[in-house]
Amino acid sequence: MEGKEISRAVIKRLPRYYRYLGELLEDGVERISSNELSEKMQVTASQIRQDLNNFGGFGQQGYGYNVQFLYTEIATILGLDRVHNMIIIGAGNLGQALANYVQFEKRGFKVIGLFDVNPVLQGVSVRGISIKMVDELPTFLKDNEVHIATLTLPKNKAPEMAEKLVQCGVKAIWNFAHTDLNLSLPEDVIVENVHLSESLMRLSYNLSNYEKEHK
Ligand code: NAI
Repeated sequence: MEGKEISRAVIKRLPRYYRYLGELLEDGVERISSNELSEKMQVTASQIRQDLNNFGGFGQQGYGYNVQFLYTEIATILGLDRVHNMIIIGAGNLGQALANYVQFEKRGFKVIGLFDVNPVLQGVSVRGISIKMVDELPTFLKDNEVHIATLTLPKNKAPEMAEKLVQCGVKAIWNFAHTDLNLSLPEDVIVENVHLSESLMRLSYNLSNYEKEHK
């Protein structure tokens, strides 16, 4: 696996494999063929074989894939084999909802700090984490190892906050503010922009097409 470049398209599909394999494990399934996985995931078996062969061919002819092995390998590739400490900036509706979602922690994404500028929120506890004011951020970042900063604050505040975080050593930003931060930050800063509305627009497009076809 080492030294081999995995294409971005494959990396993009890995979380989905990971999710399905996790479900198989929960159901006690020990091994699965590419054909069975193909039926479940609605992806062609050849696509599955091609994707999974990127990591040294975990499948064996006539045996299929060892679910636990594949699950663990994909977890390692995705960096899910360790704990990522995460902070959330903007403790409003979305920030608090993310902090309240326990499944992230189960995947190793541990929320260790919540920050806001609204004094009314200071000290409010969300799942045991007390909301701090953003002026405490530099000290917090010095005292704690933070791997990921999540931005759930207004769009116009996001670029400035991102720069501040980068200056304090943060290397990865999970950005929900509606602005594409990777265009303004140094190249070595890793940004994942999340726009739920884009997903909704794709749904809307598909719905419109469906309606046209079924008129
Ligand atoms: P909200 O108004 O409930 O929360 C925003 C919070 O940010 C407030 O508590 C506010 O005091 C705080 N804030 C303002 N300036 C700040 C600063 N400089 N530093 C730290 N905190 C600051 O809004 P909501 O609904 O939680 O949305 C948050 C952001 O996420 C908005 O930008 C919204 O457009 C975006 N959003 C993005 C989605 C996506 O799919 N990407 C989906 C939903 C919301």
